[in-house]
Amino acid sequence: MSAEVRTDAIAPGVLAAALDEATARIAAAGVDEAAARTDARLLAAHALRVEPSGLDVLSAGPVPAEFWAYVERRVAREPAERIMGHAWFMGQRFALAPGVFVPKPETAEIVEDAINRLRGLIRRGNPSPVVVDLCAGPGTMAVSIARRVPEAKVYGVELSEAAARVAVRNARGTGARIVQGDARDAFPELDGTVDLVVSNPPYIPIGLRTSAPEVLNYDPPLALWAGEGGLQMIRAMEKVAGRLLRRGGVLLLEHGRYQLASVPLLFAETGRWRDAESVATSNDGCLTAVRGAALGEVG
Ligand SMILES: C[S@@+](CC[C@H](N)C(=O)[O-])C[C@H]1O[C@@H](n2cnc3c(N)ncnc32)[C@H](O)[C@@H]1O
Repeated sequence: MSAEVRTDAIAPGVLAAALDEATARIAAAGVDEAAARTDARLLAAHALRVEPSGLDVLSAGPVPAEFWAYVERRVAREPAERIMGHAWFMGQRFALAPGVFVPKPETAEIVEDAINRLRGLIRRGNPSPVVVDLCAGPGTMAVSIARRVPEAKVYGVELSEAAARVAVRNARGTGARIVQGDARDAFPELDGTVDLVVSNPPYIPIGLRTSAPEVLNYDPPLALWAGEGGLQMIRAMEKVAGRLLRRGGVLLLEHGRYQLASVPLLFAETGRWRDAESVATSNDGCLTAVRGAALGEVG
């Protein structure tokens, strides 16, 4: 028997074993087991300077020294994306910067919905539907939509200068147009012409500290807090989307799990929307509402 096959001797230095150990250490710090494994893999790929999809072929290889330093930071509940300086969202790499919101996996559920709706519009004879992403952050929704539906005309607006700069960079080559500004008065030139508005605005009620430490300690306050009840920006997004959307246009709006009743009610009370309904996503909630006409509104 040759010494090379003694896996007990070589396992501690081998990537596959290191991933198991890192997953256990991150999970022991309070992170969900599946998320801990995902993060261990992301950090290993980052240390090896490969894409996460290229990790499996290296699983019998050595572990770079930086990996354990990254794992220590993750165990202290620093988000993997902050450690790496970028995020992976729907299989694509998004640049980040300090003070820029980290895209969350549950937002992909809303983006997939948006993509399906846009493809449906194209099939039904609208060759280049118009989409607006309000509060675009690093361009998460706008850029993902523009990549997957190149026929769409995609616009995004973001207030934070740092986030808007990063979003413009992430949008390069996709056709998405991102501007820095206040979503509340964005794109007046598009009023009444937009087919789909997507938004993941700040919606956490002041003082509610149930979000994960990765969010509370590392995402920028401008991305999180939305006054008492958390409905301040949602109320504003209702007005902006109502102004931008054409009759029959659709709004997809991410909100908190604790707002599944209050958000559709807020929309129903305005009289501007049809079929305003919220469903739970894997971590939060999402409202779908169709722009109708308010009582007495002409056009
Ligand atoms: C929860 S983050 C979502 C970012 C991105 N849409 C995503 O899903 O990853 C909310 C974003 O809204 C931005 N924001 C806050 N107030 C805004 C405003 N008045 N106008 C435009 N953007 C705003 C924040 O800077 C932050 O980037």
